Amino acid sequence: MAQTRSELQAQAQELQATLAELNDRRTIERAKALLMQRQKLSEQDAYNRLRKAAMDRGIKLVDISWKLICAVDDIPRLGARRVARPVGMDIAIFRNDQDQVFALLDRCPHKGGPLSQGIVFGTSVACPLHNWTIGLHTGSAQAPDVGCTQPFQVKVVGGVVYLLAAELADLALEHLLPIAGPALRRATSP
Ligand code: FES
Repeated sequence: MAQTRSELQAQAQELQATLAELNDRRTIERAKALLMQRQKLSEQDAYNRLRKAAMDRGIKLVDISWKLICAVDDIPRLGARRVARPVGMDIAIFRNDQDQVFALLDRCPHKGGPLSQGIVFGTSVACPLHNWTIGLHTGSAQAPDVGCTQPFQVKVVGGVVYLLAAELADLALEHLLPIAGPALRRATSP
């Protein structure tokens, strides 16, 4: 029996919703992991397979490529190192005493202190300026303080740290690098 116009429209809307849901970094990562596990594909081949399937349906997949940053051992334990970006503030990559790695914008939500110079304990960092405690998973300040700095996704494989290339390029670009010294004097002098 032929479908009515409204049935076809409902199906199209449902399909669109499913595709929108699929085109999400975490979903793509899960689909890629399944392909790698079940079909014994390399990570790149699995991603290429997904991308081709999406292109065949007229969809451009979000970018889920990871950028190699450094070895875990290049980050001081209970400390951090900074990753510079062409645009926007640096990202601070932290390592705790369990060798877990986290990444946050290097900017305290209080008054912009450099979190990369703070002290790491557990899954938090204490800001070096006024000692707020910032959660390394979420970037949120611990109560009673209120505020949040941007967290970034991190992947560690075989002792090597990766960040999502798209997040490096796109996230939290509204915070500009601080200007200090002569540049600041020039900018503020009459
Ligand atoms: S700037 Fe971080 S606690 Fe004030």
